[in-house]
Parts: sequence; structure tokens; C-alpha cells
Amino acid sequence: TEIDIAAEDLDLGGYPHYMAKEIQEQPESVERMIRGRLDDRFGVARLDGLNLTPRELRGFSRVKILGCGSAYYVGQIGATMIEELARIPADAEAASEFRYRNPIIEADTLYIAVSQSGETIDTAFAVEEIKRKGGRVVGLVNVVGSTIARACEGGVYLHAGPEIAVASTKALTNMAVGFALIALSLGRVRDLSNADGRRIIDAIRALPGQIKTILDAEPEIAEHAKTVAAAQSLFFVGRVRGFPVAREGAQKFKEISYRHAEAYQTSELKHGPLALIDESLPTVAVVPSDELTDRNLAAVQQIKARGGAVLAVTHEDVDFGELDVPRIVVPRTEPELDPILLTVPLQLLAYHAALSLGYDIDKPRNLAKSVTVE
Ligand code: AGP
Repeated sequence: TEIDIAAEDLDLGGYPHYMAKEIQEQPESVERMIRGRLDDRFGVARLDGLNLTPRELRGFSRVKILGCGSAYYVGQIGATMIEELARIPADAEAASEFRYRNPIIEADTLYIAVSQSGETIDTAFAVEEIKRKGGRVVGLVNVVGSTIARACEGGVYLHAGPEIAVASTKALTNMAVGFALIALSLGRVRDLSNADGRRIIDAIRALPGQIKTILDAEPEIAEHAKTVAAAQSLFFVGRVRGFPVAREGAQKFKEISYRHAEAYQTSELKHGPLALIDESLPTVAVVPSDELTDRNLAAVQQIKARGGAVLAVTHEDVDFGELDVPRIVVPRTEPELDPILLTVPLQLLAYHAALSLGYDIDKPRNLAKSVTVE
């Protein structure tokens, strides 16, 4: 009806699509995620909802993160943050696989279920399986009072606000920030110093402004998107911190641009996929300024030498030398937090690619916002 359309327009707040609106909302939604949760004095995060005492937090010798789709990829970002900041072995697994493989549940493992909707059936089943076997599971969930939030024994709400577009954006960014907070909590009951904790807190506090800077570059990113959308198939590559960023970038591209987008570890290219590189297969390369920059630049050079076009998502100070590589530059944060910012331009890249191809951005074919049935 006309009334429904008017209501929908109002919700869109003048944006052409919910995805565009939700991408632009990220500075405020990250503010909500961190409000009241940063303790400068002790360089620690305040996460009372986890329902874990410092002694319990200290007792975990492993972390296992479970989620589906993009929530799983952000879980990989989280696992790396936890390993780096808390030095506890951590990994992420697709909840949809975990629940079917008779997983080994250990008492000294902290299980973290990640979900925007809180209703994804595979993740909900994984939570039940962990609980049935006596494991401790907490949630990183957006929708308050949802099935997964209720089933977990504690958790951290994302406060991203309602997310309507099927392609998740602001909830994922808040998940990544949530993992930074959890990593801080786990780190500060171990060897992470007060000074290092404060270093991370200062960096977390700067994220909303830095995200705003990335969003201001939207016109340039839109131009890059038109170029990459011309290809039928793309690679997204990154390594270590950058690999889940590449996976998430490829996921967005598949979901709304209907392009074959494959994510690879940059380090694995020479073990096979490099054979596919030619003029018709462009690569989006995640090349942050960190201890692996030289290795990443060498891979970019190898792709270019085989005629492949490269678009880099990178930092200002990365020197590409003679390499003719268009760049999307993101602000620097603490290296452990780089994935949070590196992911944002890839949302805009997929959005503008889909826009230029004329696809239905908010409701892509064959997909539902949350998968609640078997
Ligand atoms: C994200 O863009 C996807 N639509 C999808 O992978 C999603 O993240 C996944 O289905 C998990 O949903 P959830 O966060 O609601 O559990």
C-alpha cells in the first residue's frame, strides 16, 4: 500500500538502500558498541554481561568461535585478535559444520557464538551441543532476547541497531570491535600490560572517526567498483590478519554482485591459483602496513607480472614503488585492529559494484536475512 511505501522511505532516511544506510551508520553504531565498556584506568574492557570472573577468564586455555557465513569470517578476525592480544590458542569454525561432526567439547575452552540475528539455526544448534556436553558458551549477538542470546550463559550485545539488508555490514563491524574487547579482557588477566591495554583502548576509541574517513572516500571507491564489476570472476587475497578480510570482501561481492569472487591466502597463490591469473581475472589485495608488507608486495608483483590487474586495500605508507596499482587507503590503527578498518571499504566496493550492475541490493536472489530452518 501507499502507507507501507511511505513508512519504508522514512526508515531509509533518504538513502537509496538499507545497505547504504547501514554502512553509513557505522561510526555511530561502533560508538554504541564501545560506550561504557572502556576502562582507561586499568586498560581493560568492562564486559559484565559475559558473567565471567577474572579467575574464570584466566582459567580458559583455548577459545573456539562459532558462527555462519560472514559471522564466521569475523570470528576468524576475532580468533587472530585473541591469539595476538591474549596469547591463547583460538580458532573459528563454521557452526554449520561444527554441529554435524560430534565436536570435542573441553571444559577449559571458552566458546563464543557470533550472530547478528541470534536466530541462525546452525549456530543455535552448536550452542545447544556445547551446553549439552558441559561447555561454557557466551554470545556476541545483535538482537536482544533472540534465541542464541537467551541460550548462552552470558554475552556481549552488539548494539548495532536493526539491520535490514541481507548483506550484513554494521553488525559485522561491531562483532569485530566486540572481539577486540573480549581479546582485551582475556589479555589483561594474562600478560597484556596496563600500558598495552590502554594502547588498544585508545585505538578502539578512535575507530568511529576513522570509519568516517573511509566512508568519505565513497566516490573514489565507487569508481574502483565499476572497474572490478566488469570482470566475471575475481580473487580477493590477504594473509594472516588480512585473510578473513579477503574472505568477507569476497562474500559481499558474491552475495550482491553475483560475481564469482574467491578468497585466497596471499601466501597460497603460488601453490596453485596463480595459474588462473591473466588479464581477465583481477585481484583485490589486502596489503596493510605491517610485518608482512614486503611479502604481500612480492605477491602483488607476481600477479602483475602475469597480466593480472590488482586493486589494493592498503595504508598510506605502503610503498608500491614501480607497481602500477590503484589503491583504496584506510587509516592506520594498532596492527591487531587493522581488520576492522580494512573490511569497511570492501562493503562499499561490493555495494557500488552491485549498483552499477543494477542488482537488487537489499534482497539478493536466493538468500534470506537469517537462515532459521534446516
Ligand atoms: C552476511 O552478509 C550474510 N548475509 C550471512 O553470511 C550472515 O552473516 C550469516 O547467515 C549469519 O547470520 P547471523 O549473523 O544472523 O547469524
